[in-house]
Formats: sequence, structure tokens, C-alpha cells
Amino acid sequence: MSLSLVGRLLIAPAVLAASSAAAPLWASSTTLDIKVVASSCANCHGPDGRSTTIIPSLAGRPEAALLEQLRAFASETPPAGTTIMSRLVKGYQDADLEALARYFSEVSPTPRSAVQGR
Ligand code: HEC
Repeated sequence: MSLSLVGRLLIAPAVLAASSAAAPLWASSTTLDIKVVASSCANCHGPDGRSTTIIPSLAGRPEAALLEQLRAFASETPPAGTTIMSRLVKGYQDADLEALARYFSEVSPTPRSAVQGR
């Protein structure tokens, strides 16, 4: 048995154990909570998921609808016309998608200051 094969046999179970034990993204660190993960969506979907562009808003949308869309992007056959989301959600586990859907469903679609100001 060659030395490199011994190395691989020793390393493989450790790698498998590490990947199957991986925690959801938002739970993997004490500082990285779901709000931090959700902030990565702001570039395109607007601050707190309130979009001012052609990209849809996420804030205040029903949790089940958001989760359904995120899972559709993550599926083998994303909805026709999908440009970026199918690639983007590949970095997330299902638990992350659930947490993101819950988070954005709980954000008010209208900022508090705008409600008070008008
Ligand atoms: C680089 C820009 C970009 C980023 C970053 C981004 N999105 Fe998107 N998102 C889009 C675009 C563009 C669409 C329309 C579908 C498509 O073309 O992929 C979309 C569509 C969606 C939809 C479906 C909305 C609808 O009504 O059809 C959801 C839900 C969504 N994104 C959630 C998220 C979440 C959650 C994040 C952060 C984890 C995120 N997006 C980050 C660009 C982005």
C-alpha cells in the first residue's frame, strides 16, 4: 500500500465527517447571524429587502412563497428565465433558505420612518 493511499484513507473519513456535520451558515459563528447573511441580498434586492429597482422586493412577502422560490432556484430545474439566483443559492443549505425566508417575511415592507413621515 503506497503512502499516499494510506494518507487518503486516513483523511477521507475526517473530510466526510466534517462536511456532514457542517452547521447552517447562519449558525456557524456567534457573530454571523441571519441578519448578516441576509445583508448579502441587499446589493440587488435593496436594503432590508426593499428594492428600488426592477429586482423584486423581499420584505414582508409571505414566508412560504419566499421559501418556495428559493427552493425552486436551488432545484435541478430552476424557473425559466432565472439569471443569477440559481447560482447564488448553491452556497446555502436548506436551513439557510428557511431562515432567509422567515427573516424577510418578518421585515416590514415599508420602513418605519416612511410610515411616520407621510
Ligand atoms: C446579484 C444580484 C442578486 C443577489 C445578491 C440576490 N438576488 Fe435574489 N434575485 C436576483 C434576480 C436578478 C432575481 C430574478 C430571478 C433571476 O434572474 O435569477 C432574483 C429573485 C429572487 C427571488 C424571487 C423573487 C420573485 O418575486 O420572483 C427571491 C425570493 C430572491 N431573489 C431572494 C434572494 C435572497 C434571499 C438573497 C440573498 C441570500 C438574494 N436573493 C440575493 C438578484 C439577486
